[in-house]
Amino acid sequence: MRISAIGDEKEKRVAITPEIAKKYQELGLEVIIPQNIGILAGFHDDDYLAAGATIWKKKSVPDADLYVGVKPSLMKELKLPIGSYLIALLSPLQNQKILEQMGKVGINLCALEKIPRITRAQSMDVLSSQANIAGYRAVLEALHEYRRVVPLLMTAGGTIRPARVLVLGAGIAGLQAIATAKRLGAVVSAYDVRAAAKEQVESLGVNFIEVKKQDDGEAIDGYAKEMNEDYQKRQEEKLAQVIAQMDIAITTAQIPGKPAPKLITKDMVKSMPAGAVIVDMATESGGNCELSEKDKVIKVDNVTIIGYGDLAARVTQDSSRLFSRNVFNFVSLMINEGKIDILDEIVKATFVGG
Ligand code: NAI
Repeated sequence: MRISAIGDEKEKRVAITPEIAKKYQELGLEVIIPQNIGILAGFHDDDYLAAGATIWKKKSVPDADLYVGVKPSLMKELKLPIGSYLIALLSPLQNQKILEQMGKVGINLCALEKIPRITRAQSMDVLSSQANIAGYRAVLEALHEYRRVVPLLMTAGGTIRPARVLVLGAGIAGLQAIATAKRLGAVVSAYDVRAAAKEQVESLGVNFIEVKKQDDGEAIDGYAKEMNEDYQKRQEEKLAQVIAQMDIAITTAQIPGKPAPKLITKDMVKSMPAGAVIVDMATESGGNCELSEKDKVIKVDNVTIIGYGDLAARVTQDSSRLFSRNVFNFVSLMINEGKIDILDEIVKATFVGG
């Protein structure tokens, strides 16, 4: 049985690293790697050859049983053999039509975003591993635009106060952003609608911003739920007071299946100190800031707003490492005595395309 990595010009990450190419062979799979696919992540064809993989030098897709990718953008151009499996972030909502067409002709499609967030599947959870790296990178992107130092600086010439950083949404990306900003010496505050987030935030030694509410903002599945209008009003008032004091805001709030909650209004942006920076991580689902634009850096008055949607891919090598390990753990569930077996609940949950 053969497994092949697939990629395209828009994706810098790679779904099989040389380390993982070796592990697939231990599972009994032959590994095919398209020429130069790992180059932007720092993995060269020679590294793959040394790991026992075959390099595919033609433009066409190699013949394989399983294809693994990160986030293919050119789905229409992917000519895969009937009966093969495509395993990647397939964006099932945006790509519904093309996935249906591919499903109809007999391509089996596993959308990695559908891996359930259960304990057994944690080692396969690509969304979490990528959000973790993205949360870290969000802080670095903010600092790249920030014209000041982050930690308290005491010099003979005077003292510079530490940067004040606010993180909105303390899930996977948010907690990593909090920890990263704290390590750099910022004074960090964070806010989330879920009661459980307070303890996690405080355990990082960070100030938790509270908005009084009647019930918890956590739904039965552990994700956040949409809050009522009264709460949203109180939240807006509280955030308006807090944001006006912040040098950097990183927003990560999401409610699965819904547009991202708008937390930072135009007026709040205008109230921020000159030179402030916002990183809106949720631009893919509409953004947490009224003014952010997907994949762009814009300036509004004296505030910079970053809307990059590829933060994890900007740490190309380690995001590829984690991604390919996650996918390997997933594929391991599908290989039973040298044959493809799709009976596991986690595998079943990922099928899309009808
Ligand atoms: P998560 O679900 O672990 O965390 C989201 C947090 O937002 C939860 O703790 C939730 O309670 C909180 N939240 C929901 N509504 C809120 C509200 N009104 N106010 C405050 N907090 C609220 O999600 P994860 O994995 O941390 O991802 C966060 C966001 O980052 C998502 O939108 C995801 O798509 C995005 N992302 C962006 C990347 C980029 O390159 N820009 C890369 C990876 C993830």
